[in-house]
Amino acid sequence: MLEALLIACAFALLQWWSSPWSYVAAGILLLLCLPGVFVMRGAAPFVSTPRSTMQAMLRLAAIRPGERVVDLGCGDGRLVFAAAKEEASATGYEMSVPAYIIAKARSLFHPGARICFGNFWHQNYDDVDVLFCYFLKDTMLDFEARIWPSLKPGCRVVSHAFTMKDVPAEKKEGDAVLYVKK
Ligand SMILES: C[S@@+](CC[C@H](N)C(=O)[O-])C[C@H]1O[C@@H](n2cnc3c(N)ncnc32)[C@H](O)[C@@H]1O
Repeated sequence: MLEALLIACAFALLQWWSSPWSYVAAGILLLLCLPGVFVMRGAAPFVSTPRSTMQAMLRLAAIRPGERVVDLGCGDGRLVFAAAKEEASATGYEMSVPAYIIAKARSLFHPGARICFGNFWHQNYDDVDVLFCYFLKDTMLDFEARIWPSLKPGCRVVSHAFTMKDVPAEKKEGDAVLYVKK
């Protein structure tokens, strides 16, 4: 986990660099970890979807050019970039600072992809055609209660691994699950 790496770097700095600046640098590193640690409690830590599952998710999503695609917690941005390749207008929200920096840097090479630093619970998904998600079990239930009811009819939700409780899945392929809003 990237936050664990930053915390280890902060402690290594304090251990090996005896200067007042080491406290400043370690403090900055620890501050950068805060948003990621905050979201880890409530949603899911940064673990990327493997390429094979990503391909299955893309097949289930069947993205058409011009569609609006969002990845809720985009990690390194891989699903956002893959959607942008299909000529979608693709956005990823991310709150872990290191993951956001990686995704933002990679987005320079992926025209059409937008990486935003923000909490996905506080965004509007009214006009979204495809939503990708890879959460923990309880977060998926929160998603079912808080975001699913606000989606437009026809919106496709493709989840990695986790399922909703009361909404039947439309299709499954390996670890990827497709839901379509009626
Ligand atoms: C399991 S990872 C999935 C990453 C990516 N979607 C993928 O499938 O490869 C979940 C990501 O969601 C991010 N996340 C968790 N809660 C979030 C929130 N409330 N707002 C934005 N990002 C969040 C985490 O930092 C993490 O990078």
